[in-house]
Amino acid sequence: MKIAFYDTKPYDKPAFEKLCAEKGMELSFYDFKLNPDTAKLAAGCDAVCVFVNDNVNAEVIDKLYAEGVKAVALRCAGYNNVDIKHAYKKLHVVHVPAYSPYAVAEHAMAMLLTSIRRIHKAYIRTRDYNFSLSGLVGYDLHGKTAGIVGTGRIGRVFADICRGFGMRVIAYDKFPAAESGLEYMPLDDLLRTADVISLHCPLTAETEHMIDRAAIAKMKKGVVILNTSRGKLIDTEALIDGIKERKVGAACLDVYEEEADVFFNDNSGHIMDDDTLARLISMPNVIVTSHQAFLTEEALENIAAATIQNLTEIFSENGICANELCYRCGDIESCKKCRNKKCF
Ligand code: NAI
Repeated sequence: MKIAFYDTKPYDKPAFEKLCAEKGMELSFYDFKLNPDTAKLAAGCDAVCVFVNDNVNAEVIDKLYAEGVKAVALRCAGYNNVDIKHAYKKLHVVHVPAYSPYAVAEHAMAMLLTSIRRIHKAYIRTRDYNFSLSGLVGYDLHGKTAGIVGTGRIGRVFADICRGFGMRVIAYDKFPAAESGLEYMPLDDLLRTADVISLHCPLTAETEHMIDRAAIAKMKKGVVILNTSRGKLIDTEALIDGIKERKVGAACLDVYEEEADVFFNDNSGHIMDDDTLARLISMPNVIVTSHQAFLTEEALENIAAATIQNLTEIFSENGICANELCYRCGDIESCKKCRNKKCF
């Protein structure tokens, strides 16, 4: 099997190289993204392996199909960057639904603690031998209310972590998990009640900008907003206004609406073209990490193992892969859950 890897970074390679050498697979690593121009480099490959910001749109799918590529393997959970509908009957699309929910949930808590205990400020101060505590007053999480939007794998681990801190956990999910023991409520009630709101639902047409001006208006003054899910869940301009009006107390963002051209790259020494991102980063109560929540050793090993397993299954005799994403049933998620036959 020949696989072209797009948007690869040095930390991606070791786990894949080790596994693929054992299986005799041939890999080409490209550090640029998959797009209509770079698709032709996959000629002769059985599959392409892509990440969150590779844009697998209809044009790219048609070009890959014309080059003889048969599958797109996402080495991530989210698949909002793939035109699944257009891929049907052309390219099989597989993803890694879970590789370490702990990695993402722990990162969310790391950002929350950093923010409310001003660790990011203290770190810079003590490096400069400034041991003043002025301006570093934080608050206890114990007794506060965490509102979790999306109670799937990551959301539920985050709920457990919050409970460990003695927080009350409330939740909203379009499909509440039965017997989860979570205190579900309508989204509006959650927005009005939570001290900390953490987003863990996928980006869909329905969830795009779910945190907009109207949603922020409903929130408690001083609320902390965490987003480790997808940038477009939040209307960034509305968030900035909410922070400027002192309504939003802090924002911890591992993802950003327009991250595709900026995140994962070293832009130090360059002028930041994105004024919105520059404004966010300039704010003392905003913490931005560059889509780093997944980045643990355990997660990278699990991603590589699951991706190779997915491709092995897709190219096996019966072609059945539990992690295939397909449009056939009209609903990707339920399709994935109920299907036990080959998609096409
Ligand atoms: P999951 O599929 O286990 O859970 C998602 C939950 O969201 C489900 O319970 C689902 O019912 C719920 N949901 C769906 N539509 C909704 C809606 N309209 N409103 C409210 N809830 C809704 O997914 P998982 O593994 O927990 O991942 C969550 C998200 O985290 C992914 O979609 C992905 O975007 C993001 N992610 C980010 C990473 C990072 O490095 N920052 C790494 C991995 C995932």
